[in-house]
Amino acid sequence: MSGVERFRVVGGARLSGSVSVPGAKNSVLKLMAAALLAEGTTQLSRVPSILDVEIMAELLRRLGCTVDHADDQLSITVPEAPGHEADYDLVRRMRASICVLGPLLARCGEVSVALPGGDAIGSRGLDLHVEGLKRLGAEIESEHGFLIARAPQGLHGGQVWLDFPSVGATENLLMAAVLAHGTTIIDNAAREPEIVDLCHLLESMGAKLGGVGTSTLEVQGVDRLSPAAHTTVGDRIIAGTFAFAAAMTQGDVEVRGAVTQHIDIALDKLAQAGAEVDGGDDWFRVSIDRRPSAVDVVTLPFPGFATDMQPFALALNAVADGTAMITENLFDGRFAFVHELVRLGAEVRTDGHHAVVRGKPLLSGAPVRATDVRAGAGLVLAGLVAEGVTTVSEIHHIDRGYPDLATTLRGLGADIVREPEPEASY
Ligand code: UD1
Repeated sequence: MSGVERFRVVGGARLSGSVSVPGAKNSVLKLMAAALLAEGTTQLSRVPSILDVEIMAELLRRLGCTVDHADDQLSITVPEAPGHEADYDLVRRMRASICVLGPLLARCGEVSVALPGGDAIGSRGLDLHVEGLKRLGAEIESEHGFLIARAPQGLHGGQVWLDFPSVGATENLLMAAVLAHGTTIIDNAAREPEIVDLCHLLESMGAKLGGVGTSTLEVQGVDRLSPAAHTTVGDRIIAGTFAFAAAMTQGDVEVRGAVTQHIDIALDKLAQAGAEVDGGDDWFRVSIDRRPSAVDVVTLPFPGFATDMQPFALALNAVADGTAMITENLFDGRFAFVHELVRLGAEVRTDGHHAVVRGKPLLSGAPVRATDVRAGAGLVLAGLVAEGVTTVSEIHHIDRGYPDLATTLRGLGADIVREPEPEASY
């Protein structure tokens, strides 16, 4: 359905009120993959109702699992011998499907995952996943569009130095190493909060981990893991979405349910922009009664400024007082949505991985198109500060990561609805 719907935003409202964030998309998808490591039923709580969770649930079903999702509870029952092929049909819809590579290899000794191919936010290689798994004894080849990994004698521990702290590679290696024979060290590991969340589930399943939350993870392989129950960490990127929305609309919004420390750096940027920011461990409030000042932003792996919030920083600076430089260090295609932002009147120039944004008091409503989940949310934020009507099409991208964004924003006073996309007349 969502493929033929769009958001219609009328700009100008000052957001105010309180919102709660759901569990993190980027955590729950990996928690679901981790369930494959143990026969039996793993229970996940605080699971968001988003498209990506449905896709991952379908992928697990095709591997022979039973998956039930009711309210924010998800139960995954994994058979003794799960299937070991993830087909292109699902992987192309959600690149994160690649996270079944590590657990299925560890559990089945063999796995075929379709290669995800191109992606709207950049080239996104898999070399770090592949090289790391080879260090653990896997034989890997690419054939007919599939990445095929085998470890007929089982995986063994090994030392892996990641060239870059890749989130996905760290997760795949972790989920492979927990059932390998011996000890694995993953150096220069990513330390995003969602990886810490995955580590906590793995520990509840019986995994032996050291260095959790640091860039050196130590994994002592065990013979088997048991299913467990786990509550997903709050979604820091959704929390950041509302924080930026509050600052851009000169509003006053309280955000509950994310770990405030996980978005410290983003909140500090908003404080630099002139917002008043206060809060506690699991809530914060952003309020501002004047036009925000321009702030430079540089994206980096955690604890740096999250690349997933870069579109929000761009949108904020588009209406800020002054000129800012945004530097994107993670994904080469992440400025693709700037063309859409410019349609709303933003003054942005990009050069390689830098964007210079000259703020204007107001943007100008226009039809635009979401190019990925966070860019889509960034365009919605821009629509909130654009004069007149902005329509955002292709909102299936936004549905991948936001449970009902329009309703939540309406609760804060925004004028936004989800409506059918008018049929093309040609
Ligand atoms: C995850 C998040 C995504 C977030 C990103 C960075 C999920 C589902 N997605 O994506 O929202 O923006 O982390 O925080 O959790 N790279 C390689 N070779 C590899 C692996 C990665 O070159 O083998 C490169 C990528 O092309 C990219 C960079 O490393 O330029 C970061 O990628 P990575 O950290 O792996 O991100 P994802 O796990 O794909």
